[in-house]
Amino acid sequence: MEREDVLPIQGIDYLEYYVGNAKQAAYFYRKGFGFQMTAYAGPETGVRDRASYVLEQGEVRLVFTTPLRPEHPIMEHIRRHGDGVRDIALRVEDAAAAYHVAIARGARSVQEPTVSEDEGGIIKQAAIATYGDTIHTFIERRDYLGAFAPGYEPLSIPEEPVGLLQIDHVVGNVDLGAMNRWVDFYRDVLGFSLFVSFDDKDISTEYSALMSKVMADGGGRIKFPINEPAPGRRKSQIDEYLEFYQGPGVQHVALLTDDIIATVGALQERGIEFLTVPPSYYEGLPARVGEIAEPIAALQRLGILVDRDEEGYLLQIFTKPVEDRPTLFYEIIQRKGARSFGKGNFKALFEAIEREQARRGNL
Ligand code: FE2
Repeated sequence: MEREDVLPIQGIDYLEYYVGNAKQAAYFYRKGFGFQMTAYAGPETGVRDRASYVLEQGEVRLVFTTPLRPEHPIMEHIRRHGDGVRDIALRVEDAAAAYHVAIARGARSVQEPTVSEDEGGIIKQAAIATYGDTIHTFIERRDYLGAFAPGYEPLSIPEEPVGLLQIDHVVGNVDLGAMNRWVDFYRDVLGFSLFVSFDDKDISTEYSALMSKVMADGGGRIKFPINEPAPGRRKSQIDEYLEFYQGPGVQHVALLTDDIIATVGALQERGIEFLTVPPSYYEGLPARVGEIAEPIAALQRLGILVDRDEEGYLLQIFTKPVEDRPTLFYEIIQRKGARSFGKGNFKALFEAIEREQARRGNL
C-alpha cells in the first residue's frame, strides 16, 4: 500500500546551537570546518537580547546563538547542557499546517505559528518539542529574499570550503528504555518510518553496548538515528553523553562530502581532531570490503573507515567531541552507493571512543 506522507518535509533548513560564546563558536566553525559566515543578528541589527551568527557550506546551514544577559531563558539551556544543538529546523511548504498536523498527532507545542516580515519578505514558523530540550522548528521561507530571517543582516565573510555538501543524518541520544518511545514519536507525529535498527548484538564491545533505530522521513531525505544505552559491564558512551549533557540531546551530526580524502585532509590541517583506530584495522580491510577506488594508504594516513553493504560502500570518520563536555561530535561521510551507517565499523569505532572515555576517567 502506498503510504501517504502526512507531513512533507523539504529538508533540514538549519541547525541552531545554543552556546556560551557565539562569536568564538562561529570563528571555530569558520576556521576549523571551512564555513562562510552569511548573516548576523544582535544589538547592531535591533535584536537586544542575544547574538546569532549564520554559517553555511554547501547546503549545510548552522546558526550559533548566545544570550546577552544572565536572566535570558537560553542561559538555562547552556547552564544545563553546555554548548549543544537546540533546534533541528525542518523546511516545509506550510509551517502553520505542519504545526497543526504535528500537534493533532500528539506533539508538544514550543512555539505557535508566527509570521515575521522585513523588506526581504515573509518567514512563517512554528516549533514542537522532541527529545530532551531539543526542538523542531517548522520553517516556511517561500519567497523570502533577505538574509536568513528578519532581524538578521547579510554578511559575506568568505572562507575556503573543505567540501561539506549537506547534512546526512542527525543522531539523538535518549535515556535507557526511551528509544522506542521516540521511534513512535517520529512515526506517529511526523509520519517517519523505520529505516534500519541495530541491537546490542550489533553494537557492543567488551565493556558497553547500545541500541539504535534509524527513522527516515517519507521523502527519504532526512534520517534521524535514535540511540539508547544498553546494559553493559561499564558505562557506555551513551551513558557518558547523558551524564554530561544532563539528559537526551543531539549526539552527532553527519556531514556528507563527495571527496572524503580531500575533506578530512583539509580538516586535519585546520586542526580538527579525529578518533583513530589501530593499524590492524587496515590489514583486514581489503578482505572485508573488497575493491574500492581509494588508496588504502591514504585512508590509513587520515584514519578513514570503510564499510560495504548490498548497495555499495561508504567511507566515514568521527571527530572527537568539539566541546570540553564529552557530548556533541561530527561524522564526515562519503557514500559510494551504500545507504547504511557503517555497521562493520561499529566495533572498531566504539573501542576508539572507549579509549577516549577511559582517558577522561569515565569508563
Ligand atoms: Fe552517524
